[in-house]
Amino acid sequence: MPDSTSQKKGRILSGMRPTGKLHLGNYVGALRNWVNLQDDYDCFYFIADWHALTTDYADTSNIKQSSLEVIIDYLASGLDPERSVLFIQSHVPQHAELHLLLSMITPLGWLERVPTYKEQRENIRDRDLSTYGFLGYPLLQSADILVYQADFVPVGEDQVPHVELTREVARRFNQFYPRKLVAGNRDPRRAVVFPEPKPVLTPAAKLPGTDGRKMSKSYDNTLLLSEPEASLRSKLKTMVTDPARIRRSDPGNPDVCPVGDLHKIFSSPETMSKVYDGCRSAGIGCIECKGWAADSLWKVLLPIQERRAKYETDPKLAWDILEAGSAKARVAAESTMDEVRAATNLSFEYEPPKVFAEKQ
Ligand code: TRP
Ligand code: SF4
Repeated sequence: MPDSTSQKKGRILSGMRPTGKLHLGNYVGALRNWVNLQDDYDCFYFIADWHALTTDYADTSNIKQSSLEVIIDYLASGLDPERSVLFIQSHVPQHAELHLLLSMITPLGWLERVPTYKEQRENIRDRDLSTYGFLGYPLLQSADILVYQADFVPVGEDQVPHVELTREVARRFNQFYPRKLVAGNRDPRRAVVFPEPKPVLTPAAKLPGTDGRKMSKSYDNTLLLSEPEASLRSKLKTMVTDPARIRRSDPGNPDVCPVGDLHKIFSSPETMSKVYDGCRSAGIGCIECKGWAADSLWKVLLPIQERRAKYETDPKLAWDILEAGSAKARVAAESTMDEVRAATNLSFEYEPPKVFAEKQ
């Protein structure tokens, strides 16, 4: 269990909604980076299952299965329960308690101004999103971050406004409620209850899906981390290419080709130069080029699928890891809540009535 005495560079928190089996876009956009951070930081990574309800409240029947699939893909990708705390939000009720307290001090305007609020209400037309929970979900995200007193939040560009909101909310809380020392404080020297978390942008190249648009479950253009080799190869065969390269004899340009983008992310410099030379001179065909891309992708997927195998045979193993991680998360979150309750004068400690205290 990471703690304040370890020689780490700070605490990290990040999470994903349970969307089911994860794909290469999730890997390149987040997981790969999370895995690399594990040695240098105290890492907390979670499944944001309550967040799924902010949009999908009308049908919760898939949440548990999706969460199980996500923890299996977390583990397969190399998140290591020995080095990171891997947990599920709904098993740590302290998130909800902090969300409630933060909701008391958060002006409505701050939430209405979050860019995803307007966008999603306009884009998602098949559900009624004029709910309290949907407006408040960025604040739930703030609670997710602050309940671990996290220093850094690795996220994609789209999530930066949520971390900015979190910083503002932390500042406001710290102004209203000065820190009181309580037994077991994680860092007794910190001046305020909440450090202001910094977003850490994931150095992510946009990963194209098989249709050339951004890889996303909603476009049905994904390559799964659990994609079998044969299906990976056949999906790549039908992937879109440089539209200017119609005949085999036409030269192409890997810089405007989605397959070229895959090469840039996954292929070795040697393969890259074969692709650039061969494509621009029409020396290679797209089928050959896609075969090399499949080779490069499979090099990444094979170790992931090898780690995945044991959880696929026995998914309960993964669930047990998630539960053990959630127990550790509860300890960390409860220690923050001790500070929060003390600062807001809601601690569980008995305090004698003032009038009696004066007489003594
Ligand atoms: N809102 C994030 C997303 O949609 C998921 C998330 C919830 C999260 N809580 C978080 C990410 C806390 C980082 C930190 O991807
Ligand atoms: Fe794209 Fe490769 Fe075909 Fe060039 S050769 S257009 S990079 S698939």
